[in-house]
Amino acid sequence: MAVRIRPLQRADVAATSALHEEVLHMEFLARAGRGFLRRYHWAWMDTDDAVALAAVDDHEVVVGFLLGALRPAGHFRSMVRRHGPQLAGALLIAAIRRPSFGRELVTTRLVRYVRGLGRMAWATANGRRRRPPGGGPVPTATQRAVGEVTHVLVRPDLQGSGAGRALLDAAAAASRAAGVEELMLVTPPELSGAVGFYEHLGWEHAGRLTSRSGEDFLRFRLPL
Ligand SMILES: CC(C)(COP(=O)(O)OP(=O)(O)OC[C@H]1O[C@@H](n2cnc3c(N)ncnc32)[C@H](O)[C@@H]1OP(=O)(O)O)[C@@H](O)C(=O)NCCC(=O)NCCS
Repeated sequence: MAVRIRPLQRADVAATSALHEEVLHMEFLARAGRGFLRRYHWAWMDTDDAVALAAVDDHEVVVGFLLGALRPAGHFRSMVRRHGPQLAGALLIAAIRRPSFGRELVTTRLVRYVRGLGRMAWATANGRRRRPPGGGPVPTATQRAVGEVTHVLVRPDLQGSGAGRALLDAAAAASRAAGVEELMLVTPPELSGAVGFYEHLGWEHAGRLTSRSGEDFLRFRLPL
């Protein structure tokens, strides 16, 4: 099967959210369900710093996708500024529809999310966050410009056919062209398929981290 990589489009979100829920069912965001994921993918691709790519087959069917950011901090700020209320609404609906997800949201993340939104609203109201176009902090001469890949996945029956590599190659090329010097990603240690895949593609181990919600991750970096 020939796979082509192209930018993700708004019309793809029904397919990407279904894939996300199916393939990464163990992830917190995926547990929120397809409705939330649809809104999340749309919000993700709607910033200047987004890297959002689809892998499509000969019939233009989406068989995989990748989400990342050229300047992660600026990307998340734009995402919340443009889509914050809709994302919060979709999260609330998911929490009501799926009580176990709702409990997890309240116990592990709610306070942090509300504080973050409050800080952003305060900063926006006070005009303290004037950013250059693109929204992210401009790296100083001594800082490396570090982009991020947050999701890459391929439809189960097509895993192993080169789509994952094609998505990461395209993300690296787009990031390099935008001046990014290094890509980072994190993955749970128990996702052994993903760990082997990143190692095989030349990503370097860059330590471990525990998220503020208490989950363990392995960090990987790819100098560009
Ligand atoms: C991980 C994933 C994205 C890889 O995509 P893929 O399309 O299956 O991988 P590819 O076919 O492009 O593989 C590229 C290369 O990596 C190698 N590879 C893939 N998985 C590997 C593994 N676990 N260990 C070692 N090498 C691996 C392939 O053999 C191939 O090698 P080659 O190009 O030198 O022949 C895909 O399997 C997937 O969606 N997994 C479930 C979701 C997931 O874990 N996502 C990552 C976390 S967000």
